[in-house]
Amino acid sequence: MKGIILAGGNATRLRPLTKITSKQLLPVYNKPMIFYPIETLTKAGIEDILIIIAPDYAGQFLNLLGSGKEFGARFTYEIQEEPKGLADAFRIGENFIGKDNVALILGDNIFDFDFATVVSSFESGALNFVKKVKDPERYGVVEFDKDMKVISIEEKPRDPKSNYASVGFYVYDNKVVNIVKSLQPSARGELEINGNPSVNNTYLEKKELKVSIIEGAWHDAGTFDSLLEANNYWAMKARGNV
Ligand code: TTP
Repeated sequence: MKGIILAGGNATRLRPLTKITSKQLLPVYNKPMIFYPIETLTKAGIEDILIIIAPDYAGQFLNLLGSGKEFGARFTYEIQEEPKGLADAFRIGENFIGKDNVALILGDNIFDFDFATVVSSFESGALNFVKKVKDPERYGVVEFDKDMKVISIEEKPRDPKSNYASVGFYVYDNKVVNIVKSLQPSARGELEINGNPSVNNTYLEKKELKVSIIEGAWHDAGTFDSLLEANNYWAMKARGNV
């Protein structure tokens, strides 16, 4: 299994914090944000990692992260010229992925959860992860059956069909590379993971989209409040308070 960290984007919701640097380089308690997705992948046993970054801050990422040796990993870097959507990762990553399966983690998603067991038992199709939340209407909401097969995914629905939010960690078999090649951009002009058309919808139509529930903490650190919450969570964790 290869791993991709998607760490480009515009981070408009965090301006002016992100006017002179990347969101994924901002601190979360005692380390830069991107350390968390790196550690999530390496803990899951994924050591061959492609880091996708925006052109403006590419040098900062290289200075900070280097070859990956310090993390017990091997890093490859690619530039995403423009933020064309989350699924663009599989177009940029085609050569890196080769014939392997691939896990994608969003660079601003911070997990306190060990994906090792689910990643090592993955065989084929697509596996997404969900977390129970109190306010599902703020997220991509996943409806699934007792066999954990997905029935529907709706982006920020007014009337959510479940309390389970889709989180920023996804595992796909090698078919994803070809799926993205024929994927059309959505109405907002992006290659989508969720939404319509999207990578997940293509797997859903083939009945090959499953979910797994995560129990640990999850923060999407893309807004001032969620970034503050993530900082507080990891500070409390360091003091043994969570
Ligand atoms: P978002 O938070 O959806 O987008 P953003 O980071 O540009 O922020 P904003 O909405 O405030 O402008 O992105 C989720 C993650 O995916 C984040 O880590 C950035 C990354 N990303 C890319 O690397 N390339 C892309 O084309 C997109 C859409 C996101």
